[in-house]
Amino acid sequence: MVMRMDFTDKDYIENYLAGLIRFPETPTMLEMRRQAEKEGYPIIRPAVAAFLNVLVNSKKPTSALEIGTSIGYSGLLILQAMGTNGRLISVESSEDLLESARENFKKQGVANQVTLIAGDGGDVLNHLDDTFGLIFLDGPKAQYLSYLPDCIRLLEHGGLLVCDDVLFYGMVAKDELIHRRKITIVKRMRKFLRTLVDYPGLDTAIVPIGNGISVSVKKEADL
Ligand SMILES: C[S@@+](CC[C@H](N)C(=O)[O-])C[C@H]1O[C@@H](n2cnc3c(N)ncnc32)[C@H](O)[C@@H]1O
Repeated sequence: MVMRMDFTDKDYIENYLAGLIRFPETPTMLEMRRQAEKEGYPIIRPAVAAFLNVLVNSKKPTSALEIGTSIGYSGLLILQAMGTNGRLISVESSEDLLESARENFKKQGVANQVTLIAGDGGDVLNHLDDTFGLIFLDGPKAQYLSYLPDCIRLLEHGGLLVCDDVLFYGMVAKDELIHRRKITIVKRMRKFLRTLVDYPGLDTAIVPIGNGISVSVKKEADL
C-alpha cells in the first residue's frame, strides 16, 4: 500500500514533535516564545529550533550571519550553540523589533557577541565582505533568490547556508494550497529552490519540518 502524505494533514506531526522535542531553551528564550505567540511574531518553531541547534552544534562555526532578527529568538539559539567564541551579525528591517532583540540579547548576557544591524537584508548583504561559517536566512521570503549570490559569496568553504520557510505553508510543493496573494512568493521560492539545488558549488538538502528548511554546505573547492 502506498502511503500518501499531504501538507494539509501535517499539523499533527508538528504538534506531536512540539510536545516531544527538547532543545536548550533558556528562560529568556521561553519568555520570548510566549511573547512572540502573544504578539503574533513568527519565530522558528520548536522542531526547527531543535534541528538548527543540532546543525550549529555539529558545525561549531565561530561566525554567523542572520537575515531576519525579529525579537532575537533564533539568534539566541544560534549563539548558544556556537558557544562563547561565537559571533553573530543579525539584520532586521524593523527598528522596533531590533530594539526588543537588543534587550533580549542583553537579558541573556550575550550582547557582546552580537552586532545588530537595522536595515534591508539585501543592502547589508551587498556591503558585507567578511565570511561566515553559518548564514541563516529567515527574512523576506520573496527575496531569497536575489540574496543567494551574496550568501554564497559570504559563506566559508565548508560553511552552512540554512534557509527557513522554503516550503511556505506547503504552497511551494502543491498548487492547490496556493493563496492568490502569495503567488509571487511561491513562484520566487520555487525558482530559489531550483537554483539552490542546481548550484554546483553547494550540496543541499530540504527538510519538511516547520515550513520547510533547506540546508546547503559550500563545497571545499570552487567548481
Ligand atoms: C520570520 S521573521 C524572523 C524570525 C527570527 N529569525 C526568529 O526565528 O526568531 C522574519 C523577519 O524578517 C524581517 N524582515 C522583513 N523584510 C526584511 C528585509 N528586507 N530586511 C531585513 N529583515 C526583514 C521581518 O521584520 C521579520 O522580523
